[in-house]
Amino acid sequence: MGAKSGLGLRLSFVKRYHLTTFGCQMNAHDSERIKGMLEELGLGEAVSQDEADVLVFNTCTIREKPDQRFAAHLAQAAALKRRDPERVIAVGGCYAEAQRERLFGLYPFVDVAFGPGSIPHLGDWLGAGGAGVRRGAFGTGNERRFSAALRSKRERRFQAWVQVSMGCNSKCAYCIVPAVRGREVSRRPGEIIAEVTRLAEQGVREITLLGQNVNSWGRDLLPDLRTDFGELLRACDAVDRIERIRFTSPHPKDFREPVIAAMAECDAVCEHVHLPLQSGSSRILKRMRRTYDRERYLRLVAKLRAAIPDLAIGTDIIVGFPGETEEDFRETLEVVGEVEYDSAFTFVFSPRAGTEAATMPDQVPDDVKRERIERLIELVQRVASERNAARVGGVEEVLVEGPSRTDGALLRGRTRRNTTVNFAGRARPGELVAVTIDASTSTTLRGTQLAAVAA
Ligand code: 5AD
Ligand code: SF4
Repeated sequence: MGAKSGLGLRLSFVKRYHLTTFGCQMNAHDSERIKGMLEELGLGEAVSQDEADVLVFNTCTIREKPDQRFAAHLAQAAALKRRDPERVIAVGGCYAEAQRERLFGLYPFVDVAFGPGSIPHLGDWLGAGGAGVRRGAFGTGNERRFSAALRSKRERRFQAWVQVSMGCNSKCAYCIVPAVRGREVSRRPGEIIAEVTRLAEQGVREITLLGQNVNSWGRDLLPDLRTDFGELLRACDAVDRIERIRFTSPHPKDFREPVIAAMAECDAVCEHVHLPLQSGSSRILKRMRRTYDRERYLRLVAKLRAAIPDLAIGTDIIVGFPGETEEDFRETLEVVGEVEYDSAFTFVFSPRAGTEAATMPDQVPDDVKRERIERLIELVQRVASERNAARVGGVEEVLVEGPSRTDGALLRGRTRRNTTVNFAGRARPGELVAVTIDASTSTTLRGTQLAAVAA
């Protein structure tokens, strides 16, 4: 769909774009593709919205908060457009997909709206937009395509995201993703490996495989292809010069033995897993339709720890899901203490229109949610501080990312376990170095470089 223009795709009179991204890693990856697309159309990147001719917003709708932040940004964009009506405002991503044509009613100054599956068509609509867009044009995910055909503009030369699937077949009661990103479609393994190989040749050392539920990857390729996510990890591990492999996010219900074995046996697969818990109460997990209970989750953690010594585990937790009692919440705290997470993203339940949980009768009052998340954050930080403190005195392999964000005299990088390290040393971004750990906080390590371990 979308407004096709007969005027051609080149935006010869439009010079520069500015892109603002909200939300998850999938969106950050989509943003790289949007940038690649815009640059292929001949646009350059502007340093600020003020200097841009095309303002693009890649939005998220998973919780209410990003929606609000987006509204504030849009108000600013509207003011710029009032000053210069030639400016084009384009809104993409999940919020755009969820609102569809309503977006133009809510924000009449928006010229182009497009869903996450429609990035390849962006050029068509911007072409039309430049000539005075037909308001109401909306790109849907009907023609969803993988990024392979699209050149993307990566933020870092040596790190890359690789999309392995899109959409999600789960029906988690709180989640808007299945409604906006559609059913799961796996990308063909040959295509994925070809992309990883090309990236390695271009100097990429670390890849992160992306999907809404990475470890159910491949199931929809049956009976044509019989494969699973474990095999995909092994195939990526076999690609020369890929030093680190990460993936996000797996669903605990689909975490089978072959994936654990591949993690344990592949040198490049990092000792880190993001394993969303959501709740530690089996009763709430059932209401959430997560299809695992507390015991099954804990058994999985035990298996992972037995197979992969030194594994770091991260998670996502929601507090205040409808019907959550103090007892349910305490069970979540217990699981956090038992698993000893290295990191956790904590969320207050946010009712999203169109999801099952939004209309459940026993919503938890805001003050209770706030009180619970404070207690949860305190525990998460305490546990993470202890985990990091245990690394002090040891040596970590660090992939250098650039200067430290807090102290320009230091460098910053990440360990295989995905912890940020600020360290004194001399190295270039993309190098792997050995760093002695001298100090720690709940989220970072501090250290001193020993020597380069690889060029
Ligand atoms: N409210 C709060 N948190 C949510 N998440 C997803 N939907 C909601 C919601 N409606 C969280 C989940 C998920 C993460 C990406 O966002 O924890 O794993
Ligand atoms: Fe949403 Fe659940 Fe699918 Fe994750 S697995 S995207 S939380 S429905």
